[in-house]
Amino acid sequence: MEVFPAWDEKYSVGNTDIDSQHQTLFALAEKTAKLLNRHIYKTEVKELLSDFFNYMQTHFKDEEEYMESINYPYLVEHKAMHKKIIKDMSCLINDCSTTNDLKEKLYEIVSVWLLEHIVKHDMRINKFKENQEEKKIIEKIEKDEQYDYVCGCKDMIHKLDYGLHIKIKYLNIAYKCKKCSKELVFNDLEEKTE
Ligand SMILES: [Fe+2]
Repeated sequence: MEVFPAWDEKYSVGNTDIDSQHQTLFALAEKTAKLLNRHIYKTEVKELLSDFFNYMQTHFKDEEEYMESINYPYLVEHKAMHKKIIKDMSCLINDCSTTNDLKEKLYEIVSVWLLEHIVKHDMRINKFKENQEEKKIIEKIEKDEQYDYVCGCKDMIHKLDYGLHIKIKYLNIAYKCKKCSKELVFNDLEEKTE
């Protein structure tokens, strides 16, 4: 199985406490990757899972408080992402069948949590904070990042921004095409695991 990346300054969210928690999570992921490469007992996987689970709960709480303190605009959506990760994780802990099955799922959760969540979403908190300090408007930065959505119209692509994209994805809010009245569906080319 693939080795996870090490924590790097570029993953900073602009808060030393949150950064050091992220570092601990990266270290836990590395430990996980190592364990997954050899024979592992079910009890070991379970132990690792509960370490992860407990640490993540504390971390999410702190990160949410931090986002609130800087008036992060996507707090509600980001909280929904955390909730989903916790839900996925508790399902995994509760219905683990075979060790191999468990290993595979654990890898999936860790890579979604680490690669997708910290790298894609948490880093945005820093982007917001930095730009807020420079008194720039968040919408301006978000504008160049677009997500392609399709509807019922032929060859029609709706370009949505990050805010709308995570609203649809994590808050289950539907948007319809004004022309065909069909619900917009994400044209999922890259974000398969998210
Ligand atoms: Fe987060």
